[in-house]
Amino acid sequence: MTDNAFEDFLDGFFPYRKTTEAHRSIPAEPVSRELILGQIEDMASREDAQGDRGTVSGSLYCGDHDHYAFLGDVFSLYSHANVLQRDMYPSATKFEGEIIAMTSSLLHGTGVGVVTSGGSESLITALYSYREQARTDRGITQPNIVLPATAHVALDKGAHWMNIEVRHAPLTDGYVVDVAAMEALIDDNTIAIVGSAANYAHGLIDPIEELGALAQSRGIGLHVDGCLGGWLLPWAEKLGYDIPLWDFRVPGVTSISADTHKYGYALKGSSVLLYRSKDLRKHQYFTYPDWPGGLYLSPGLAGSRSGGIIASTWAAILATGESGYLAAADGIMRTATAIKEGIRGIPQLEVIGDPTFLIGFKAAGDLDIYLVNDSLKAQGWRMNALQLPPALHFCVTRPNTQPGTAEAFLEALRTAVAYAEEKQGQPAESGAMYGFGAGTPQGNATVNMVMAGVLDAMHEVAPDPAPAA
Ligand SMILES: Cc1ncc(COP(=O)(O)O)c(C=O)c1O
Repeated sequence: MTDNAFEDFLDGFFPYRKTTEAHRSIPAEPVSRELILGQIEDMASREDAQGDRGTVSGSLYCGDHDHYAFLGDVFSLYSHANVLQRDMYPSATKFEGEIIAMTSSLLHGTGVGVVTSGGSESLITALYSYREQARTDRGITQPNIVLPATAHVALDKGAHWMNIEVRHAPLTDGYVVDVAAMEALIDDNTIAIVGSAANYAHGLIDPIEELGALAQSRGIGLHVDGCLGGWLLPWAEKLGYDIPLWDFRVPGVTSISADTHKYGYALKGSSVLLYRSKDLRKHQYFTYPDWPGGLYLSPGLAGSRSGGIIASTWAAILATGESGYLAAADGIMRTATAIKEGIRGIPQLEVIGDPTFLIGFKAAGDLDIYLVNDSLKAQGWRMNALQLPPALHFCVTRPNTQPGTAEAFLEALRTAVAYAEEKQGQPAESGAMYGFGAGTPQGNATVNMVMAGVLDAMHEVAPDPAPAA
């Protein structure tokens, strides 16, 4: 990499390094609030611009800045409050209990659950509960969990932390989990199985009814990852879309995660983990009566928690209401259907399975889909890039429902396919790094090292720009 190329890379990674001071130590004197706010407003408005144009897949689920401002007002009233102190902040009990109850009523649950900081925490907490349940009730010390290959990777992360063996079940030709293959992976040390509704990669719903029957026949739990679809699929079903049963109406489903900070239109930092039974939930509780600091009780991973996120999540649900969620889902499903049908009309591409609101697609022949992504990126579209197989997905959210978005995307996609055909054989710039639209290194033998390097860089202060030559 030439010096110039490296400088360009740094400019992309740290775009403010030439326009704002990089703080390596605490400023001796307070910086004025005006200056701070001005800088933040500038960064926020630049960074929101692409999402607000409706050309981004996923990530921003609501896009309504009035709604954000209202939630910000609510947040600020409780941002400083530590909801651990329930004698001081009993409102947190009301907010939290009602968030759980409202989510549960949407998913036909029993009203049992917890509020967490996001999808990953919900999944990892569920994993922990199943591990503890299996340990105390069945004496299992070498636990394993059986997941679809497409289950969210947070489960692999949690299993890694908790020393749980992960067994990945392959997919069928329809890209949902192969239930027979899953069954073959279960043994006496299996603590639970998982299905997604819908999964991150391809937006597909695993055959939850079959998984429920399997879980029941083996006497183990079934967690359904509804982090992404949990707050959207029920509305799509009410609108008449063909959504298979996946929630607590399915016997055998013992827990569900559903992220309020995605299609629940709450601020980032909230999700709900529902359990069918209080008995399973109690396995995630930690109590310790012998601590000099007092009798300690804690429902989950976090200690102190901000009241702001709980209050604003509650407010987001109330301020949207059933009719708001239905209207949003209507726009999302119409847009997603138009995109799905449009992609099906492009012979060089293939839609993966039969998705609903998140459309995964790959090359039908030997087209390099990452070249397609390069061109989409150059045209202002930010897709999520996938691998195994190489593919892209468009997760449709409210900002994408602006009139003309589906048509404009399909036009850009046709241009991108022509570009990829023209550049066939040349290396693509985009890869499949989760959380990055494009422009990161592609997989090779040093990929783990490169990924760790990216994480290091994300926790560092921007390097000073090179002095002008
Ligand atoms: C299906 C699914 N599960 C879990 C997660 C993880 O959620 P979070 O990013 O809130 O931790 C995601 C994120 O997109 C997801 O799509």
